[in-house]
Amino acid sequence: MTYNKEEIFNLLSKFNFGFGFDDSRMDELAAYLASQKFLFTYDFGVTKAVIIPKGADYVIKIPFEGYYNLSNHFYNFTEANDKDGWDYCREEADRYKFLSDNPLKECFAETYFLGYIDHYPIYIQEKCSPFNYNKNSKTKEEKKMIQPYLRHYTSRGVDLNTNWCIDFRNYYGEELFNYFLYFIDRYKWGDDLSSDNVGYKCGRPVVIDFAGFRD
Ligand SMILES: Nc1ncnc2c1ncn2[C@@H]1O[C@H](COP(=O)(O)OP(=O)(O)OP(=O)(O)O)[C@@H](O)[C@H]1O
Ligand SMILES: [Mg+2]
Repeated sequence: MTYNKEEIFNLLSKFNFGFGFDDSRMDELAAYLASQKFLFTYDFGVTKAVIIPKGADYVIKIPFEGYYNLSNHFYNFTEANDKDGWDYCREEADRYKFLSDNPLKECFAETYFLGYIDHYPIYIQEKCSPFNYNKNSKTKEEKKMIQPYLRHYTSRGVDLNTNWCIDFRNYYGEELFNYFLYFIDRYKWGDDLSSDNVGYKCGRPVVIDFAGFRD
């Protein structure tokens, strides 16, 4: 990954994350970035904002603090980081650190804590291509072949994208695939590996969201 920490901090320094940064402020964040003449697209899910700079090989991930319920009451997330926090990006960065010399490290997008901007934590992750069903079809034979591997784990609550798993097994081989399935079940990292949360880095299957929301 090539990035300039100073530049990212300068870019974000005048945005007021304040208290209760959440998905309802994505338009405001996008308008702010556009006003800085910054070229980017963005995405977000339940727990994170994702800024995708044009022409770079990284994305900036910023955690949401919580959410507004239907009566407009703000709730902090409380179940991140093994149930002691709100920051799901930190969970992702901590998990990447935990992989240190594990052979599964290359199956997860490189993720780091960058620093605080006015007390708000900012993270960086290698840019990947999120999974796209329109560009990824599999034969009946391939789907049949992968089922016995998946059946055991999906019945234990592991949520997996079948097509991506076929690519994973082809790319890394059967041994690492078996270890991956065992590992995400053992450490409970596999509750949200659906199509939104996996992808590819130059053809290499990787998990891009490895901190599934718990409530
Ligand atoms: N490294 C990346 N490269 C490119 N796009 C990414 C990357 N990480 C995330 N995205 C995009 O941003 C979206 C939201 O990111 P992510 O899944 O990490 O957030 P989330 O809030 O946890 O989502 P969820 O709703 O699954 O909990 C992803 O579905 C994906 O489309
Ligand atoms: Mg996600």
